[in-house]
Amino acid sequence: MNWDDTTETAADGEERLVGSAADGEDQAVEAALRPKDLREFVGQAKVREQLDLVLRAARTRGAAADHVLLSGAPGLGKTTLSMIIAAEMAAPIRITSGPAIQHAGDLAAILSSLQDGEVLFLDEIHRMSRPAEEMLYMAMEDFRVDVIVGKGPGATAIPLELPPFTLVGATTRAGLLPPPLRDRFGFTAHMEFYEPAELEQVIHRSARLLDVETDAEGATEIAGRSRGTPRIANRLLRRVRDYAQVKADGVITREIASRALAVYEVDERGLDRLDRGVLTALLKLFGGGPVGLSTLAVAVGEERETVEEVAEPFLVREGLLARTPRGRVATPAAWAHLGLTPPQPPPGAPGGAGQQGLFGA
Ligand SMILES: Nc1ncnc2c1ncn2[C@@H]1O[C@H](COP(=O)(O)OP(=O)(O)OP(=O)(O)O)[C@@H](O)[C@H]1O
Ligand SMILES: [Mg+2]
Repeated sequence: MNWDDTTETAADGEERLVGSAADGEDQAVEAALRPKDLREFVGQAKVREQLDLVLRAARTRGAAADHVLLSGAPGLGKTTLSMIIAAEMAAPIRITSGPAIQHAGDLAAILSSLQDGEVLFLDEIHRMSRPAEEMLYMAMEDFRVDVIVGKGPGATAIPLELPPFTLVGATTRAGLLPPPLRDRFGFTAHMEFYEPAELEQVIHRSARLLDVETDAEGATEIAGRSRGTPRIANRLLRRVRDYAQVKADGVITREIASRALAVYEVDERGLDRLDRGVLTALLKLFGGGPVGLSTLAVAVGEERETVEEVAEPFLVREGLLARTPRGRVATPAAWAHLGLTPPQPPPGAPGGAGQQGLFGA
């Protein structure tokens, strides 16, 4: 599976409760849960402080804000922040995305119809076509585009002045942006995964908006399983709400949250069936590894790509699995998480099975 492909959404979002891409239901409810201004936006303290300065300064100057690049994993709040930027600047916002801009002409049409000070939100900016990208360089820097009229030797470039605007680009893959594009942003915000306490705030806020009663421990329980991602926190909250309404009195407590998420097979750390399947195979069948990716995938009954790109990133981030040149290796934390005991090394042998060279002496 290619990250640049929309299949990411299919594999990571639609089928998994803990997938980070937006599914249909997310899209329908997210608009209602989006914070509307910077003060309401939870967490990302550094980004918020820096962005606040950028926007305040622009407002004082009475000018459009500098172009802003938002980079970070899916569901951390890039689209939300872009809308907040427009709201804080009291400017209209135009929303489009890299894949929607196939030809430079598409971009020229959008740019030339912008109003003074408008925010242009370009989602998935790393997926824009090369000719459009080159047109964007000039638009960002000089607020000008050359529209090419005609073809072949008779083609002429007609320069077109643009009103000052703020480009807000969003990407999950900042590393894929060509340096000339990255350099033209005045401010780059790197969105980090959220701390559990921040996710608790997100959950309390969303619970209020969804009109569902949640006590402190209930929110803590959901936050711990949300993989550092507000989108997942909101999604788990909705599933727990369903359970609370059907099986209890509608109030979300620790007990209700943990029973509900057990039904949905999301464990205390946010691992789902796929994640646990991969870890269990690695521990039980291969003694913790090292084992090659293909062998591991066959053992789990999944595609290689699913294991590598859907399950592993989170397991690696959580320090449960390591990718080594000799294969996949479970960490001591993985044994502990699944409540299993690592095999003892034979007497006199250096290090334990599967941990040689990585964690062993
Ligand atoms: N800091 C935050 N405070 C409160 N809610 C948040 C925050 N960040 C994100 N959310 C919630 O999470 C949901 C997903 O956020 P958003 O759509 O902005 O993510 P994204 O980074 O644009 O994801 P993608 O990469 O998939 O486009 C939103 O509905 C919003 O309610
Ligand atoms: Mg988005």
